[in-house]
Amino acid sequence: MMKDKSVKKQSVNPVLVAKKLSDWFLKNARVLPWRENSDPYRVWLSEVMLQQTQVTAVIPYFNQFLKKFPAVHHLAKASIDEVYSLWAGLGYYSRARNLHRGAQAIHARLESGAGFPTNREEWLAIPGVGEYTAGAVCSIAMNQRESIVDGNVVRVLSRVFAIGKLDSKKSEIWEAARKIVEVKAVEPRAVNQALMELGALVCKPKNPKCEECPLNKLCLGKNHPDRYPPPKPKKLWKQVKEERWVLLHGKKVFLMQNQEARWRKGLWDFPVSNAFPLLKAKLLKEENSKYVVTNHKVERKHLVFQLSAEAAKKISKHGEWFSPSELPGVPAPVKKFLKNK
Ligand code: ADE
Repeated sequence: MMKDKSVKKQSVNPVLVAKKLSDWFLKNARVLPWRENSDPYRVWLSEVMLQQTQVTAVIPYFNQFLKKFPAVHHLAKASIDEVYSLWAGLGYYSRARNLHRGAQAIHARLESGAGFPTNREEWLAIPGVGEYTAGAVCSIAMNQRESIVDGNVVRVLSRVFAIGKLDSKKSEIWEAARKIVEVKAVEPRAVNQALMELGALVCKPKNPKCEECPLNKLCLGKNHPDRYPPPKPKKLWKQVKEERWVLLHGKKVFLMQNQEARWRKGLWDFPVSNAFPLLKAKLLKEENSKYVVTNHKVERKHLVFQLSAEAAKKISKHGEWFSPSELPGVPAPVKKFLKNK
């Protein structure tokens, strides 16, 4: 292992790390809805939702999904619009598409008698499932000795083992995670979740709570939390300007489904300005909003128009009229705009 030269060469025993992590988790694990049982469908669903999203934001979405789609075949048979509509507001909509495709692939396995995927390789063959999700489902749902690496795990392990340089595959972190999950004295599901939980609650990016950490005696990086993990290069922000027409007829609002938008394919949005250049409508007001998607800082202008019955009818074949209380899958700025109306 290549170590940061500024820290004296020492080694940390993975057996001790694994035992301490596991003991800590068994006492300190948060009660979370996806921890109620180890059904692989629930674990898979939670792991897809938790990618890029905080636990507190995920909880209501997870509960709503399970209510609507209690088993994988319900999700597989739903329309993508139903999935988007439950996903609306959670962001990173490609996850919703992958989840739907993944459910269909699992359902096809069930129909053929193969059952749920049973190991890492079979999970990796499901659309949208990468190394992290495969490891998480195999260890958490099936208690298999498979490692996982996400942002929290990178932070904890880079600090404990003073790993100050990361290659693009984070190989040293994966290697450390593998050594820990292979310790026979611990359950894979406990030790893997412990790594994530410790990263979320104690070993925080700024101001880690080292005094509460079960690993504080053996952690090599505890005096330099800013060095581990090594700082990422600054995000390169792109500025984007958008203008959309909010077309109203009575209480209803007109939305069109994005066909090829960069981030919002398949979601319903207000039409772009000049989508209907000959439209006769009365401009009621303009509103500006700002939001962030991936590395884009978007400034969006909403021009709000009231349409006559005749004008509303003319454009109806290009989209649909919705009442704001029954919206389909819409991106966050649309949801926010209509919520305030
Ligand atoms: N982040 C990613 N997966 C998680 C899980 N299973 N529990 C809590 N936080 C997580």
